[in-house]
Amino acid sequence: MAEREWILLNPGPANTSRSVREALVMPDLCHREPEFFEMMRECRERLVRLAGCAERFAAVLFSGSGTAAVEAAVCSAVPRDRALLIVNNGVYGDRLARIARVHGIPAEVLPYDFTTPVVPADVEAVLRRRPDVSHVAVVHHETTTGLLNPVAEVARVAARSGRRVLIDAMSSLFGEPLDVDAEGVDFVMASANKCLQGVPGVAFVLGRRSALEALAAQPPRSVYLDLHGHYTTQERDNTPFTPAVQVLHAMRQALLELEVEGVPSRIARYAENARVLRRGMAALGFEILVPEGARSSILTTFRLPPGLAYDPLHDAMKRRGYVIYAGQGDIRTYAFRVSNMGTLTPRDMEEVVAAFRASLAELRVGVRL
Ligand SMILES: Cc1ncc(COP(=O)(O)O)c(C=O)c1O
Repeated sequence: MAEREWILLNPGPANTSRSVREALVMPDLCHREPEFFEMMRECRERLVRLAGCAERFAAVLFSGSGTAAVEAAVCSAVPRDRALLIVNNGVYGDRLARIARVHGIPAEVLPYDFTTPVVPADVEAVLRRRPDVSHVAVVHHETTTGLLNPVAEVARVAARSGRRVLIDAMSSLFGEPLDVDAEGVDFVMASANKCLQGVPGVAFVLGRRSALEALAAQPPRSVYLDLHGHYTTQERDNTPFTPAVQVLHAMRQALLELEVEGVPSRIARYAENARVLRRGMAALGFEILVPEGARSSILTTFRLPPGLAYDPLHDAMKRRGYVIYAGQGDIRTYAFRVSNMGTLTPRDMEEVVAAFRASLAELRVGVRL
């Protein structure tokens, strides 16, 4: 157990408010009692309201990590005789493909390198060639690098040919602008512990009600991750399995706090956090991996300076109270990630830059001081 409070620069679980953490300690509560159902209903309603899609969408909660929501949406949405088109420009696009494979869903993967956003015309071309594809799955914010995909344009080209879109918005919902109710979008997946600023353990699918209802006609591929089963049970103010009661209580508090801050203000705070971080790091000589124009305001991947490996930098930052995050796979050898989600402020980001300056000096890496 950590004895001190860390500044978390990993992309979730992110730093939370004290009141969110305190909400984890609550009277024991049975999940089949009205007090729980009221809490669950409140969370579901607030989620769609804050996501700006309350009119036509419902939130479906899953106890589990974010992947539970992604897998539930993928394995529930695609009919038995149809296929899935998957955009892959990072680890989470790759995970979508793995999920499809495990469930025996025929999939075509549209690959890009880790720093290139999807080109909507490419999606259009595949859809023209593959009439069997019913759905397109795409990651909004590739947390692998901090790359943003133009999901609204992808949804538009998909909708033009009657296809439906699933968006993994795990690390971007409430942190980047996203029109959940855009034409063509049926399912958006995210979790409590990223830009919502709750704690890990609850994930959710924001589903278009018409699409959720239509799932009744399809046999489920999974018992636990049956999106339609969770939806219909939660609509009846019940839950098919034992939920993470305390985590949901903390999520309720996080939703209240998001409502007070306001989604546009949170997005603006994150954008300012990123601006302060990037300006400070540029002054230290750090370069950003993802080209300008394709970057999110939530996470930045910086190239490691020559002669510096990730581990000593991580440890020097941690001694100062900051937890940075390694690159995934091969990227670890030449770059690292800094997220600015959670309760962090632009002032905190100034201090992050100061900690990098001090760490580099300690490690005797040539920097512009
Ligand atoms: C874009 C994206 N999708 C899916 C996930 C998977 O979430 P989890 O690790 O909570 O299962 C993550 C986690 O960081 C993510 O960033």
